[in-house]
Amino acid sequence: MADLVRKIICDSVDRNGSCKIALAGGTTPHALYKQLAREGVSSDVPWQEVDVFFGDERDVPHDHVESNFRMAQRALLDHVPVSPGRVNPMPADSDDLHGAAERYEQLIRERVPTLPDGIPSFDLILLGMGGDGHTASLFPFTDALAERERLVVSHFVPVLGRRRMTFTFPLINAARNIVALVTGADKAEAISIILGDDEELRADLPFSMIRPTSGEFRLVMDINASRLVEKHA
Ligand code: 6PG
Repeated sequence: MADLVRKIICDSVDRNGSCKIALAGGTTPHALYKQLAREGVSSDVPWQEVDVFFGDERDVPHDHVESNFRMAQRALLDHVPVSPGRVNPMPADSDDLHGAAERYEQLIRERVPTLPDGIPSFDLILLGMGGDGHTASLFPFTDALAERERLVVSHFVPVLGRRRMTFTFPLINAARNIVALVTGADKAEAISIILGDDEELRADLPFSMIRPTSGEFRLVMDINASRLVEKHA
């Protein structure tokens, strides 16, 4: 997985002189970020040409233990020569969360090249998946799933009882590369539905709405997350 990310970053910089990446939160990517920070992997990555954004964030300060930014900073960003001015934490603890989401969207529109349809296209968006099939902070049965205009929204997530800020699907699906890393037996049921053929069941899992408009989507799983997937002959 680290080699895949390294390759995408190097290709993007070779192609465009920079790489626009959105990092995933939660716990799964922590090991990936640690691996990316290791000398043997990171030494040939042109980190100084990488612009770092975040696909979602919790409504906590950036030094809070639950912060996705803090996790990425400690596992990766503090250990590689990214330019501080090119790391863009999501301001998800702002008092004016809606205004902060609009400002983060505006920042993306200014910094990330757009597709012909005017939607910014990240070189790479990393995602995870919850056991309920959520991805980023797009949770089942929330209005944010249907958002087609806004690229970044903040919303109250009833199942968490908390507010979150998140990319929406128009922005996620505009990426050149979407890579989802899903590990653990607690994700197996959702994965088997996502890769199964029951449209009705799949429709309730936000992860199934990842459909790149012109880019590539790769799902990387461990043996536990994929254990219920029918082995198609
Ligand atoms: C977050 C993440 C979220 C995460 C899934 C999986 O803020 O929690 O963005 O979408 O990817 O919840 O979380 P784990 O990797 O901890 O299982």
